[in-house]
Amino acid sequence: MIYSRIAGTGSGLPEKIVTNQDLEKIMDTSDEWIRGRTGIAERRVISNGESTTTLAEVACRKAMEAADVDPSQIDLLVMGTTTPDVVFPSSACLIQKKLGLPDCGAMDVNAACSGFMYALSIADKFIRCGEAKKVLVCGAETLTQLVNWERRDTAVLFGDGAGAVVLEASNEAGILSTHIHANGNYADLLRTDTGVSRGFGDMSHNDYKPEVEMKGNEVFKVAVRTLHRIVEETLGANDLQKSDLDWLIPHQANLRIISATARMLDMSMDNVVVTVDRHGNTSAASVPLALDEAVRDGRIRRGELMLLEAFGGGFTWGSALIRF
Ligand code: UT7
Repeated sequence: MIYSRIAGTGSGLPEKIVTNQDLEKIMDTSDEWIRGRTGIAERRVISNGESTTTLAEVACRKAMEAADVDPSQIDLLVMGTTTPDVVFPSSACLIQKKLGLPDCGAMDVNAACSGFMYALSIADKFIRCGEAKKVLVCGAETLTQLVNWERRDTAVLFGDGAGAVVLEASNEAGILSTHIHANGNYADLLRTDTGVSRGFGDMSHNDYKPEVEMKGNEVFKVAVRTLHRIVEETLGANDLQKSDLDWLIPHQANLRIISATARMLDMSMDNVVVTVDRHGNTSAASVPLALDEAVRDGRIRRGELMLLEAFGGGFTWGSALIRF
């Protein structure tokens, strides 16, 4: 039986930090509200030529270095992003060039905040069926470029970043299972208002750009319910109990959603990796960024069992149960 295992992790963050106090100066909000409702204290925002693919390049290089893998050995690159540098070529193709990968397959997966879970699931399948031995999986986003800095309901939430893992074929698990779902009936609760075939909006305004629209409260309720369901589905598929888990590595949208999932798992917050306070919601990058942080600071050790999960626009949601 072939499994895939995580051989190395990496991350890339913009240099510029925007704190809640910085936001207080430009919109009608407060540090107290943002921390209390979301758990966010600061976020990173791209500047000076940084972009989704520059962040992703850094994350991928670090993951390959940690895995002791040379770019020439990579068989496939799968990239979760909703905020590509350009419509095409795909971000995966742009990163393939930057990293000097061989002529391997390279693709973007758009599943909003669940993009990394979808990318990981695809990569795992390629390895399990024997089509690839080493796969680079990345989640990278620059959602701050899609927010209106005058709208306090969305601008305070998002941050930029990238996280990556190298998956490699192994006789031992590794990834025990992945689970992905979507329900397009919820498309209007979290979306951008424009796009390529619908047009980019009112071009008579030079400063026009698409922006994120979210019915936050409704998204919150469905997110909590749905994450409970996928956690049960994942444990059930592996015939495991909540108490078997060592770590929860959740999507970092809101500390209250993260805490609700931890409570449902009867898990102490000491076993939950939290980065939302410093990163905000980095969409497809949030899970691999959190994973990399806890691997590098020595919290997560080889052999431990971890549950990764995410929920986002679409709606999409996904999870993975992994023996590290
Ligand atoms: O990653 C993809 C998935 N996304 C999520 O899971 C996000 C889910 N949603 C959430 O995290 C929360 O719903 C938010 C953090 C977005 C909002 O928190 P909330 O507790 O649901 O607040 P609300 O939207 O119900 O707004 C409560 C009040 C409103 O004022 P009134 O109408 O009660 O007077 C808002 O206008 O808070 C006001 N408000 C703010 N006040 C200060 C909204 N944003 C802000 C702000 N600063 N930034």
